[in-house]
Amino acid sequence: MVPTLSWIIVALSLHITTSNGRPSSTRLPEPDPSYAVPVELGGNTYINKGLVAFGLIPSNFTDSTGNTMGGFGSAIALKRGLFARQSDGTFTGTIVAQPDRGFNVDGTIDYQGRQHQIDFVLLPFYGTNNLTFDAALTTLKLSYRNTLLYTERNDAATTGLDALAIRPSTSADPPLPEAPSNDHLSLDAEGLVLNADGTFWTSDEYGPYIYLFSEQAELIKAIQPPQAILPLVKGELNFTSDSDPDTGRAGNQGFEGLTVSADGHTLYALLQSATIQDGGSDKTTSRFTRLVAFNVSSSAAQPPLVGEWVVPLPQSKKGKTYASSELHFVSDNVFLVLSRDSDGHGGDDNNSAYKQADLIDITDATDIHNTEFDDPSKPISPDGELDSTINPATYVSFVSFIDDTQLARFGLHNGKPADQTLIDAKWESLALAPVGDPDFPDDYFLFTVSDNDFITTQGISLGQPYNAGLDNDNQFLVFRVTLPGASVPGVSRSNRRPGLGKVPWRQEIIQ
Ligand SMILES: *[C@@H]1O[C@H](CO)[C@@H](O)[C@H](O)[C@H]1NC(C)=O
Ligand SMILES: *[C@@H]1O[C@H](CO)[C@@H](O)[C@H](O)[C@H]1NC(C)=O
Ligand SMILES: *[C@@H]1O[C@H](CO)[C@@H](O)[C@H](O)[C@H]1NC(C)=O
Ligand SMILES: *[C@@H]1O[C@H](CO)[C@@H](O)[C@H](O)[C@H]1NC(C)=O
Ligand SMILES: *[C@@H]1O[C@H](CO)[C@@H](O)[C@H](O)[C@H]1NC(C)=O
Repeated sequence: MVPTLSWIIVALSLHITTSNGRPSSTRLPEPDPSYAVPVELGGNTYINKGLVAFGLIPSNFTDSTGNTMGGFGSAIALKRGLFARQSDGTFTGTIVAQPDRGFNVDGTIDYQGRQHQIDFVLLPFYGTNNLTFDAALTTLKLSYRNTLLYTERNDAATTGLDALAIRPSTSADPPLPEAPSNDHLSLDAEGLVLNADGTFWTSDEYGPYIYLFSEQAELIKAIQPPQAILPLVKGELNFTSDSDPDTGRAGNQGFEGLTVSADGHTLYALLQSATIQDGGSDKTTSRFTRLVAFNVSSSAAQPPLVGEWVVPLPQSKKGKTYASSELHFVSDNVFLVLSRDSDGHGGDDNNSAYKQADLIDITDATDIHNTEFDDPSKPISPDGELDSTINPATYVSFVSFIDDTQLARFGLHNGKPADQTLIDAKWESLALAPVGDPDFPDDYFLFTVSDNDFITTQGISLGQPYNAGLDNDNQFLVFRVTLPGASVPGVSRSNRRPGLGKVPWRQEIIQ
């Protein structure tokens, strides 16, 4: 029989395929193309495809130690091998969230370092309509699992108390920041990297140091940064966060950003803003901050510094620096950097002007490690003017967290009124997970979580109730982005189902 024209048309339409040869009928849902915001960097096109999920943990939620759970945004990471797409179109996994140093609005407290495991079910919302706030909450459902507490080698708890004392160096450790009242290691945790072997790196603001902890959260080693970054007063170390040193990191402007290369061999840490000698005592001159790299591929007690570059942070119209709160590896020489103001819910003002996950590229940046700039007496940017011999990283604007259209789709907003639907002031964390869509192999979910500074009207801190005068939830946002050539190690579930293994956590699952 000779096929009729209509048969040919049916046959053709059944064989329409996507560029990779799969039938179009099996295409996965994707964001509305009108939301795509492309940017160019190093000859590649990176695309922000918009906000796809929102979730929260209420401000009065308590962890398994009975204390208010908050301050998450210090850092998040996705637990290795658990992220997976389910047959119903949802994605599941576990966020490991690390708070900083507890409710410290009225001074630092004896808060033990910790990390929380939070399971999530992500149902990306790709619609162009505006969800209500309550409906938006179904796009990222969160459930708390348990909490792991940080200790030193001798099982002593770490503390959040100001590091007014110094523990002398030993054969194992450099001089360490400690609290004179209990001699415990002072930790204001900021960055978090989970290693394949279960150990993890935590960066902090006091040292600013980077600590390696075992799977059971016992201290293994401490990395000391170069002299130019160490807080020195009259040439001597002083780790207090209460005042600025003469040279080195400014008070409370430590290693906010921490990330690792895809092979796990190079650890990168980003200082929140310029060192004091580089202009860090004032927001109008604190723009040029430092990114350092350590070779952590061997078990050396002091992993060697293998690179140092200058990152030019964005500035407001009035020339004030938007300090950086996080760093995330994308591919060799390319990173995401989270820079922002402190306005929004829980902040000084309702109206935020800048909160972004931006891109940097250090391919053409000058490596200043092992140069005169390691010496605190030789600033890279005296009074905020960059030394003409230094080529800084390329900094490109990328994903805005305060886009009005995107926020409205999730029942959120920027600016007054100051209610539960106002975007939080402080965002401090980034994590990536592959979307796993064969049509978009470079697409990732970009997770970010806010740091609410433990602000709640129904708080418990060190077992005591408190009222901070405002309920500021821990907000979670998920964007979808295209990151050409990105390499994110170990997040997705392998073909092998994860075994139960031993349970390294000290607390029982309570929810
Ligand atoms: C948190 O506050 C809500 C609303 O007031 C209340 O229903 C809930 O029981 C509180 N949760 C805790 C853990 O206190
Ligand atoms: C969503 O909300 C924003 C802000 O209120 C509004 O401008 C926009 O028109 C709304 N979009 C739809 C599709 O309703
Ligand atoms: C560091 O400076 C603070 C404030 O000036 C002071 O109280 C503290 O004793 C100093 N610490 C050391 C170890 O000198
Ligand atoms: C890192 O250290 C390892 C082992 O010492 C060495 O083989 C490697 O070349 C080093 N890599 C870099 C980038 O320095
Ligand atoms: C934020 O908005 C609220 C109204 O919701 C207002 O009372 C408050 O004064 C605003 N805060 C600032 C700093 O403008």
